[in-house]
Amino acid sequence: MKIVLIAGSNRRNATSTQLLKYMADTLGSQGADTALINLYDHPLPLYAPDDETLDENAAFLIRSVDEADAIVLGTPEYHGSISGALKNALDYLGSNEFLGKPVLSVSSSGGAVGVSSLTHLQAIVRNLHGLNSPEWLSLGGNARQFAADGSPADSGVKQRVARALDTLVSLTRVLRPTSNVKSSEVRV
Ligand SMILES: Cc1cc2nc3c(=O)[nH]c(=O)nc-3n(C[C@H](O)[C@H](O)[C@H](O)COP(=O)(O)O)c2cc1C
Repeated sequence: MKIVLIAGSNRRNATSTQLLKYMADTLGSQGADTALINLYDHPLPLYAPDDETLDENAAFLIRSVDEADAIVLGTPEYHGSISGALKNALDYLGSNEFLGKPVLSVSSSGGAVGVSSLTHLQAIVRNLHGLNSPEWLSLGGNARQFAADGSPADSGVKQRVARALDTLVSLTRVLRPTSNVKSSEVRV
């Protein structure tokens, strides 16, 4: 089972990126083949439909999502919506890469929860013809803390992450029956 995780922050130590790194490690330990695309480390030019040449990072993004069985999208909550960096990345993509694939949306916000960005993200996923997971995840306020080993500091957050990933993996098994992971459960 191939899972691509797109970390949509343009900030070096972004908590949304730390969350996606933890998710990638957790999924990897269950046997999933994960690829984390960090838009801070691999920035994309502003999407321009007239461009005749494709940027190297953009080509890698498109290929990675195309090859994935499932997708995790992570964003900081910016002004009640998703980051410009993630929206720009998604503009390079379409139903060719998303059709019928399960998608988990996660956010990090200064306030208690970042549901507004998640709602916007799920609407975009719908328009990409992906399938929104019934779970989503928002880390807000003090929940945005991570231990030295990269895991969420709060045990309740760990449980929420495990549930969200377990649902994504279960959904992927149903929708992409040829994909495989070692275990049906993602544990922390
Ligand atoms: C431009 C900007 C807009 C923001 N807008 C919101 C907002 O609407 N709601 C909120 O709760 N936090 C808002 N924040 C705070 C961020 O959501 C918060 O710092 C979050 O943890 C950033 O995610 P990151 O750690 O992945 O960069 C905003 C921060 C910035 C820089």
